[in-house]
Amino acid sequence: MSPFLALGLLLAGVCSVHCLPENVMVKDQCRRVDDHTLTSSNTDFAFSLYRKLALENPSKNVIFSPLSISIALGFLSLGARGSTLTEILEGLKFNLTEIQEKEIHQGFQHLLQTLNKPSNQLQLSVGNAMFVQEELELLDQFIEDARVLYSSSAFSTNFRDPEAAKSLINGYVKNKTQGKIEELFKFLSPNTVLVLVNYIYFKAQWKTRFDPKHTQQAEFHVSENETVEVPMMTLDLKTPYFRDEELGCTLVELTYTSNDSALLILPDEGKMQDLEAKLNPETLTRWRGSLQPSRIHELYLPKFSIKNDYELNDILSQLGIRKIFTDADLSGLTGAGNLAVSQVVHSAALDVDEEGTEGAAATGISIEKMAFPTTTVRFDRPFLIAIVLKDTQSIIFLGKVTNPSQA
Ligand SMILES: *[C@@H]1O[C@H](CO)[C@@H](O)[C@H](O)[C@H]1NC(C)=O
Ligand SMILES: *[C@@H]1O[C@H](CO)[C@@H](O)[C@H](O)[C@H]1NC(C)=O
Ligand SMILES: *[C@@H]1O[C@H](CO)[C@@H](O)[C@H](O)[C@H]1NC(C)=O
Ligand SMILES: *[C@@H]1O[C@H](CO)[C@@H](O)[C@H](O)[C@H]1NC(C)=O
Repeated sequence: MSPFLALGLLLAGVCSVHCLPENVMVKDQCRRVDDHTLTSSNTDFAFSLYRKLALENPSKNVIFSPLSISIALGFLSLGARGSTLTEILEGLKFNLTEIQEKEIHQGFQHLLQTLNKPSNQLQLSVGNAMFVQEELELLDQFIEDARVLYSSSAFSTNFRDPEAAKSLINGYVKNKTQGKIEELFKFLSPNTVLVLVNYIYFKAQWKTRFDPKHTQQAEFHVSENETVEVPMMTLDLKTPYFRDEELGCTLVELTYTSNDSALLILPDEGKMQDLEAKLNPETLTRWRGSLQPSRIHELYLPKFSIKNDYELNDILSQLGIRKIFTDADLSGLTGAGNLAVSQVVHSAALDVDEEGTEGAAATGISIEKMAFPTTTVRFDRPFLIAIVLKDTQSIIFLGKVTNPSQA
């Protein structure tokens, strides 16, 4: 795979969210143990999910917001109990001998508060909402935790009119993502009783902007034998740089005016898959410690807009989160045990240009009343009857009922 494609892909996987929480925390001078554990688990989850998504379609762009998915599943876990709960938290890469469920929720609460601090250098908003079937009675504890820990808004919704419910939810997400995520749910069943949503919107300017006058059409090597023409931006700047001989890649960190940053990783030719296999929180930590401000005389970076929609049911199952879809215990939502997740959908978009970066993502989780397989046989037309004695298997009566109302 070509080096430049590589860069686009990884930017997508790594940057859309990973860099944010850590940097924000450094700024915050408030590194608590649970923040660190939360960040490292979220990073581990991000790379695990990245590998699954990249593997599904190796030649396609990948863009998703791991943070949005982690928060949405954390939110869902408020309503989960027993092994359904353990699966979600372990699937999110939390080590439950080291961190308690309560600390995880508090970690997300703190993260949401930190990310939503107003800044004049950065537009960042992250939020949650729930859409609740009109007559569904959620437990007070869940409503309270959703509000306090996940800052969730709640909207009464009539899912019996699925088109109207879908446009309500998609419209909400579109509004919160400045129009960038237009159709989170493609489909909603009339059996839906609850939808949980997380959204993220991010817009930041490069500390050193590219000059549009220097952007020119240039070749981008999609693969060994395929080349496309793309608008290539160029810049001469001093910025954190690291040449990783061990993994065979070059890293450049581009900083936004807010001091958040995009980490761009360019594997050597043909090394993309090797690198993907080695992406983990330890590698990232090593990179962070190795980046040194350096003068880069010519940085070439394509200007691009990529977006993707995912249905995550299968991939989450592969990551060990299975019960939510089948024999779920979501009794923390309503007290009853008859609910299950029908869809986990995710959409993300990322635009990189001379000015900076704009990204948006949303995750939606729809929950339905489980249709318990019920077997119905209605003898409402003529039938036969044979009465058999157990011991001798003798047919003691044999008849045909054509009209039960006749004597
Ligand atoms: C979880 O943490 C414990 C204690 O630190 C450790 O022994 C164990 O190996 C960890 N489990 C996993 C799956 O990482
Ligand atoms: C989102 O909704 C708010 C409040 O209703 C409105 O003021 C704003 O213009 C909307 N934004 C978009 C992008 O639709
Ligand atoms: C690229 O082209 C060369 C020569 O035409 C061929 O040998 C090689 O298999 C091609 N590679 C791919 C990935 O298609
Ligand atoms: C970014 O970091 C620089 C250098 O440490 C500092 O001077 C500047 O105030 C920071 N900007 C923001 C928005 O925090």
